Amino acid sequence: MSRYRITVNLEWTNACNARCSMCPRHMIGQTEIMTESCFATVIKRMNSAEVFRVVIAGYGEPSIHPQFGKFSDMLRGNPVRFDMVSNGHALDIKKLRKIDGSIHLLVVSFSSIVKEVYDKTHVRLDQNRVIRNILCAAETLNKTKLAISLTPTIECLHTLPETIEWFHSRGITALTMSPTLYNRAGSLRQSQESEARLREIIRQYGLRSQEMEFIPSLWDCVKQTCSNRFHCMPRNAVVAIAANGDYQYCFNDIGRKRRMGNVRDMSLAEALKLREGTGSDPDLCAGCNIKGRYASREIAAVIRHYWSQGKSSRG
Ligand SMILES: C[S@@+](CC[C@H](N)C(=O)[O-])C[C@H]1O[C@@H](n2cnc3c(N)ncnc32)[C@H](O)[C@@H]1O
Repeated sequence: MSRYRITVNLEWTNACNARCSMCPRHMIGQTEIMTESCFATVIKRMNSAEVFRVVIAGYGEPSIHPQFGKFSDMLRGNPVRFDMVSNGHALDIKKLRKIDGSIHLLVVSFSSIVKEVYDKTHVRLDQNRVIRNILCAAETLNKTKLAISLTPTIECLHTLPETIEWFHSRGITALTMSPTLYNRAGSLRQSQESEARLREIIRQYGLRSQEMEFIPSLWDCVKQTCSNRFHCMPRNAVVAIAANGDYQYCFNDIGRKRRMGNVRDMSLAEALKLREGTGSDPDLCAGCNIKGRYASREIAAVIRHYWSQGKSSRG
């Protein structure tokens, strides 16, 4: 067992019904769909002592997995917290009922209430349908919490006030944003708003900053840092498991350049042990824009966050 807790980013499939402007999908290889036996193994590998939360996301769209209902049922009653990130397009009432109570938090990614902006960002998705599903989720979900992840691209930011206003007026107030547009280990060439400006926007509009959601506690961060040869806090806080069951060196390794073994042969603790001994990877890390995410100012913000919230409520 590892000496600290991490977040797991779990991919049910790398197939996607969207072609988002901020996702370098051309880097993704062949389509992979997690098998039932692989998922059963993943579930067995997860335990609350090692895992703070499992986020079902990866590089595809979990709601289009052919066994969505079965997989959701397999999570029911599990003591580990499972969350899901979805673009919401396929989340109809039947699927929403399936996840109610088996998923702790549903996060729907949404770029803009302005249709032209949405269509240019969430390419191939029908904004009206996504909106209908979000409103249906807000009404239908009793046990599962709902949050919205707002897209941090330059193209979306000028419509942010009206997008926020629209959600607030419908009683949806858990709005989050990443302070970084990940360049996916240098593979995304899209123009970026600076992290400082994004943090300012997050503060200005009272959004929840997403990087806080991956950190179980300050003490876990300290232990992660002491245990890993490579002091990249965003990487060390997360273990990505691909749809084929491979543990990844880094969740930003969209091209799957570096695997660490498979859930069939290796426990999470063994995968972490293996990763702890690795240094930075020139292919992935040289062009990556997230290593400095938790700079001293952000660490101070994390400390303030935990001070005000109390560590116990994070567990
Ligand atoms: C990669 S998607 C996968 C799950 C699902 N298909 C979706 O769109 O929500 C997971 C989350 O990452 C966000 N995302 C995608 N590309 C990003 C990037 N380059 N930087 C930061 N977040 C990104 C998406 O908006 C979404 O909230």
